[in-house]
Amino acid sequence: MNFDLTRVRADFPILAREVNGQPLAYLDSAASAQKPLVVINAESHFYQHGYAAVHRGIHTMSAEATTEMENVRTQAARFLNAASPEEIVFVKGTTEGINLVANSWGASQLQPGDNLIITAMEHHANIVPWQMVAARTGAEIRVLAITDDGELATEQLASLIDSRTRLLAVTHVSNVLGTINPVEALVAQAKAAGLITLVDGAQAVMHQKVDVQAIDCDFYVFSGHKIYGPSGIGILYGRKTVLDTLPPWEGGGSMIDVVTLPEGTTYGKAPWRFEAGSPNTAGIIGLGAALAYVEELGLENIQQREQILMRYALDKLASVPGIQMYGPQHRAGVIAFNLGPHHAYDVGSFLDQYGIAIRTGHHCAMPLMKHYGVPAMCRASFAMYNSEEEADRLAAGLTRIHRLLGG
Ligand SMILES: Cc1ncc(COP(=O)(O)O)c(C=O)c1O
Repeated sequence: MNFDLTRVRADFPILAREVNGQPLAYLDSAASAQKPLVVINAESHFYQHGYAAVHRGIHTMSAEATTEMENVRTQAARFLNAASPEEIVFVKGTTEGINLVANSWGASQLQPGDNLIITAMEHHANIVPWQMVAARTGAEIRVLAITDDGELATEQLASLIDSRTRLLAVTHVSNVLGTINPVEALVAQAKAAGLITLVDGAQAVMHQKVDVQAIDCDFYVFSGHKIYGPSGIGILYGRKTVLDTLPPWEGGGSMIDVVTLPEGTTYGKAPWRFEAGSPNTAGIIGLGAALAYVEELGLENIQQREQILMRYALDKLASVPGIQMYGPQHRAGVIAFNLGPHHAYDVGSFLDQYGIAIRTGHHCAMPLMKHYGVPAMCRASFAMYNSEEEADRLAAGLTRIHRLLGG
């Protein structure tokens, strides 16, 4: 493994700050990751030297900005091993990407009596858009269950699929349990039954190399802000043969071919047909810098380093009195837990006093909370810049809270 933690940490200026008089231990990267200087500088440089409206101007700066933005499309295609940049749609994030597919593919294809399969471990972003389009079209939602170990009950998939099943939408990595789902096998099974497949990669792309051609899904979506990029930008990959057949979901500038009054607008081709209005150009440039940054470090190196840290943290936390951890042993990025009978908010507030930032609540996964019979969980999430020392501090902090609160 080739990974220099000290050097990587130095790339993220915010990690040097203090919180409540303590050095920051930022264990909330699954909610949103911090940004390396190269990303901050790329956006700033673009605003200082390269900013102009894209796709609209004949002037030099507009042409340069357009080229820079389109280069990121090519870069994102390479990053995901898409067959072509035309399979890459710029969206605001994972949520918008899934809404796009639900509103374009779903609203145009679904018929009353059709059904869609999602899983019990989805983030609300991969639940609610499907429920909304199901309500509009008369389709039904079916749910693939999870086991008590926090894995998908994959053997049940076959029994959920019938002649009216149209889609499987599944998360690659659970944002609560860290479960790494066998998406290649699930997609293969779904494809064999003629389903459209969508994989939510929001918690996967920063932890492992993703190859959309190997997964063979029709759609793959992720957010820039979770992979050390800016907020407000994300990527939707769509297989060209599918994307080319889909109607736009938002209308406006940049997505049209010819507009005539009173009606009769024709639309541009994919992926631009799905990018109505002025894009988040600086965000796109920043995302390009983030993807280049992780690629330079090497996702295999990042994955190996994070696996060592995860094993260390899981072992360490297992020794905390009163802790209840959720999810499988082999996982990516996150450890969700509760401490004795104490509400996650109380535990999170104490940890904050010790300079340790974790997430508490339902993690936008209420059905998963229901499965485990709890209203909330604490979640510590580990990114490539986290250290064993931070895992030690978390374990020591929790032990102290347990001593203070009892239970
Ligand atoms: C698995 C998963 N899907 C979707 C989302 C939504 O991402 P965003 O809020 O960036 O659109 C998240 C964010 O936490 C997530 O973890």
